[in-house]
Amino acid sequence: MNKDSRIYIAGHRGLVGSAIHRALTAQGYTNLLLRTRAELDLLNTADVNNFFAKERPEYVFLAAAKVGGILANNNYPADFIRDNLIIQTNIIEASRLNNVERLLFLGSSCIYPKFAPQPMPESCLLTGPLEPTNRPYALAKITGIEMCWSYNRQYKTKYLAAMPTNLYGPGDNFDLANSHVLPALIRKTAEAINTGATKITVWGTGTPRRELLYSDDLAEACLFLMTLDEARYSSLLTEDSPPLINIGTGEDVTIRELAETVANVLGFSGKLVFDTSKPDGTPRKLMDVTRLHNLGWHHTTNLEEGIRRTWEAVRAQLS
Ligand SMILES: NC(=O)c1ccc[n+]([C@@H]2O[C@H](COP(=O)([O-])OP(=O)(O)OC[C@H]3O[C@@H](n4cnc5c(N)ncnc54)[C@H](OP(=O)(O)O)[C@@H]3O)[C@@H](O)[C@H]2O)c1
Repeated sequence: MNKDSRIYIAGHRGLVGSAIHRALTAQGYTNLLLRTRAELDLLNTADVNNFFAKERPEYVFLAAAKVGGILANNNYPADFIRDNLIIQTNIIEASRLNNVERLLFLGSSCIYPKFAPQPMPESCLLTGPLEPTNRPYALAKITGIEMCWSYNRQYKTKYLAAMPTNLYGPGDNFDLANSHVLPALIRKTAEAINTGATKITVWGTGTPRRELLYSDDLAEACLFLMTLDEARYSSLLTEDSPPLINIGTGEDVTIRELAETVANVLGFSGKLVFDTSKPDGTPRKLMDVTRLHNLGWHHTTNLEEGIRRTWEAVRAQLS
């Protein structure tokens, strides 16, 4: 990927896409192709084809998707499977038709079986039943991986699927009704400070373990993969296994440790109360990142620093 290569970031205003946009700009890439949903609806096949034929991107970061929490996945399962299948199929096919050099398809750790070994290696894909709540979404993502693999075999394309762990960062969703655990903790803690409350109630026992990756670190990993030399990039695209790589830290913390770190960073000195009548969710969800580490990439932002940077970015909005 040269500094003046034509690079399309699908979903450049999302949490992942905006981080990739920042990283590419910071590293001096000048020829970025960006379209908002209003300018290009990725559900519209003809419009996607016209865009690709006109702009002829050479590299594609596929970070556009219909994404949501448990509630949204539960209420709109048809929308999740349909929209994701259409968006990714439109982009993958248009990339093939227009000879895109490399494509990075972003998925998520929910592609792995509910009872996968911990940490979860890439090889556990399709080895057991999925978590039912987001199965339509996960199956769309698994189909995307299978498409990348099939296209590579049949059309000799070079499409790679990257599966990030739980992400957090400035562009996150801080709405308590459908946010993930870390933004929810940041929001609750900010509110407790604002109102002078002396305690924060955290759902569950505080013992489940979670892995979290700062969004800018994920973007660095995506650029690292897309700029790998030909030999190392091709080593990820073999005929006998899916072109799949996990992106994470390889480390996890308990929800209690997470809540304590948020309290420290934001300066909340009250009590943390664990409401054990609320569900804990999966006890542990950790990516096996051996493949990524062996290529030479490690995350650089530790949890405290990442929370500090996120807080600095959203402080005005939440205070
Ligand atoms: N967030 C995480 O913790 C996490 C973790 C692992 C993997 N991932 C993966 O990363 C990818 C991106 O996730 P995200 O968290 O960045 O999601 P996000 O913040 O919701 O961003 C998704 C982007 O896709 C765009 N988009 C959706 N439908 C579109 C359409 N029909 N036409 C044009 N644009 C459309 C959205 O545009 P609008 O802004 O106009 O809606 C938005 O910019 C997903 O594949 C997800 O599975 C995320």
